[in-house]
Amino acid sequence: MSELGRLGLQSEPTLHTVRALFPHLEKGIYLNTAAAGVSWKGQGAAAARFYDEHKSLGFAGQSAWRAEMERTQRLLADLLRVRAEQVSFVSSTTEALNLVAHAVRLERGDQVVLSADEFPSILLAWSAGALREAELVRVPIRREATRTEELIQGMTARTRLVCVSHVHWSTGTRVDLTQIAAAAGRVGARLIVDGAHAVGAIDVDASVADFYTGPVFKWLLSAFGLAYVVLREEFAAELEPTLRGYRNAPPSRELEIAHPNYPAMYALSATLEWLQGLSWHWMHHRVDSLTRLLHDELTQSGWDVVTPREHRAGIISIPDDNADQTADRLASQGVEITVRDGFLRVSPHFYNSEAEIYRFLQLLGRERA
Ligand SMILES: Cc1ncc(COP(=O)(O)O)c(C=O)c1O
Repeated sequence: MSELGRLGLQSEPTLHTVRALFPHLEKGIYLNTAAAGVSWKGQGAAAARFYDEHKSLGFAGQSAWRAEMERTQRLLADLLRVRAEQVSFVSSTTEALNLVAHAVRLERGDQVVLSADEFPSILLAWSAGALREAELVRVPIRREATRTEELIQGMTARTRLVCVSHVHWSTGTRVDLTQIAAAAGRVGARLIVDGAHAVGAIDVDASVADFYTGPVFKWLLSAFGLAYVVLREEFAAELEPTLRGYRNAPPSRELEIAHPNYPAMYALSATLEWLQGLSWHWMHHRVDSLTRLLHDELTQSGWDVVTPREHRAGIISIPDDNADQTADRLASQGVEITVRDGFLRVSPHFYNSEAEIYRFLQLLGRERA
């Protein structure tokens, strides 16, 4: 099969055509999708459809906005390899993580296992109130290449929940969810995943997790104030939501408590449809080849890249003692990256070009000279 056929394409989308929908990209080199993806030109009009075509009818628009939500559920379900009924929406990933933390029934002696360096929302969702008398086990990660194995070693027969970022927010390491799910299954634990830096950047099978959530403003290029949740039925049956409302009146086990952010949903569904049409395979392939290029060139030039080449997604992170100053100087030359945990975090998306990567490398090289 030809390369295009393998990517599910009849003809390759040209980067030139795609980039025409992102005027901001012509102003500088944007390598900061892990902080926020760039919105494309059609999105404002998509969000406006909610107001102009449906909410303008008052409550009579309800069937239309409900239909849009169902369409979004189906688009996400296709992307994440789950069933549409498993997909729901809340206002942020942080909210989703807190909702589930407060809904699981934990007992004295139970353990919640996570990496010590997890994203703050994952760590902080496990407040004393959420843990009740259970124990929070913060597993120190010593080597990025063995992040998956080290987390698994932190599980015991008392582990009831494992919470993990699919792709780590500062080091960019992609864990092996299949292995973690299998290990969690062996001790009878449930698996909660934050897919913030995975979905849109790499191929994701959310069906391996009991709970998979993420924002849409990064690699899915969409709005703030909306996050998806994929919940496995068996896990839902074990939950006892502490926050209740008209969307999850008892005996519902759902976590969604009120109307979702419909304008953001309209923008998301238009984006998902557009990206599906472009081809997810093509997008993932581009992220893969741009990050490979970055990794290989940096390593060959003697940079110490913290992201393991074989366990990467869309983030390449580089330790730098003067990370803030380096990022500022790059910014003054028109290159936007960000600093997290003392690393220069570089995060290209499908819309970046190889020429931009080479220009970034050239400017970074001068920093070192
Ligand atoms: C791993 C991770 N999860 C969640 C978030 C935030 O998502 P939300 O604003 O939907 O809570 C971020 C970054 O902003 C993140 O890096």
